[in-house]
Amino acid sequence: MSAALFPDPVSVTVRAPAKINVYLGVGKVRPDGFHPLETVYQAVSLYDDVTVTDAEEWSVTTVVDGIHVDGAAIPDDDTNIALRAGRALVAHHGLECAASIEVRKSIPVAGGMAGGSADAAATLVALDRLWSLDTADDVLLSIAADLGSDVPFALVGGTATGTGRGEIVTPVEDNGSWWWVVVFNEEGLSTPSVYGAYDLLEGGDHDYRIRPQMLEALRAPEGAEDLVVFLYNDLEDAAFYLRPDLQRVAEAALECGAATTLLSGSGPTMLAAATSAEDARAIAGRLAEQGYDRTAVVHGPVAGAHVVAYQ
Ligand code: C5P
Repeated sequence: MSAALFPDPVSVTVRAPAKINVYLGVGKVRPDGFHPLETVYQAVSLYDDVTVTDAEEWSVTTVVDGIHVDGAAIPDDDTNIALRAGRALVAHHGLECAASIEVRKSIPVAGGMAGGSADAAATLVALDRLWSLDTADDVLLSIAADLGSDVPFALVGGTATGTGRGEIVTPVEDNGSWWWVVVFNEEGLSTPSVYGAYDLLEGGDHDYRIRPQMLEALRAPEGAEDLVVFLYNDLEDAAFYLRPDLQRVAEAALECGAATTLLSGSGPTMLAAATSAEDARAIAGRLAEQGYDRTAVVHGPVAGAHVVAYQ
């Protein structure tokens, strides 16, 4: 490929999806403080876009692009996970370069949809392309896993199982198109606090493995109803214990016609399962009439982090 035809880009934009856990089984806390998981991730059509531009020094800025995003909760210093992702990639390659990172956020902060993980994954892919690093997939996945348990899945997307602490991602065949109403919450919920409440309430002393029938329902769906019986989240009781208002969201969604409801990850975002796009829009409309107007209709599975613009 000729360099004249395809000159190095000045900036690259990568889009990364939010995730939901259509199944989340949690075991007993490990000595390292993490919990062993068996989860089924699904990437859904709510995205953050990350644009990286070559710069003298590292910087990160956030542009809020969604009504349900609290921009004030996002750090602009070295603790920002997108910036940490950039530094980790450069350190791996032994480079000195830096970039400015702009995150256009639609995924809620501390919402249980892995918004920070999406930003980290998008930054890794964007910088890899900006500087033509050609980082091997397994290296990107390993850097991603060091950044956070959900970051590898944001690279892979689609529908996948997650094991270990969630970082070991294995794609599964998903031939359905699943519709969800996402009910956002104004107040974030910290992941460690939910896992802490889980340890106190339940502790993980049960069989938390993914049911093979669930993977079959994804592979050969006869209808959206097939999956509904398998939707499950071990963290739900812990999140409801910390935030009783979430239980009322679930009750309202059921009254509004949801096939079932589910906590998204460690919450506080709640999911209402719908049988079609029209059904999802109708549920969202009824929820709005009840005062729950911070919602989005999304579908899954969608692609993991991918380039959307070269400039
Ligand atoms: O990996 P990540 O940085 O997203 O994890 C944030 C926190 O969530 C951990 O420090 C831990 O308290 C909790 N966690 C856990 N078990 C997991 C994943 C996360 O206890 N499998």
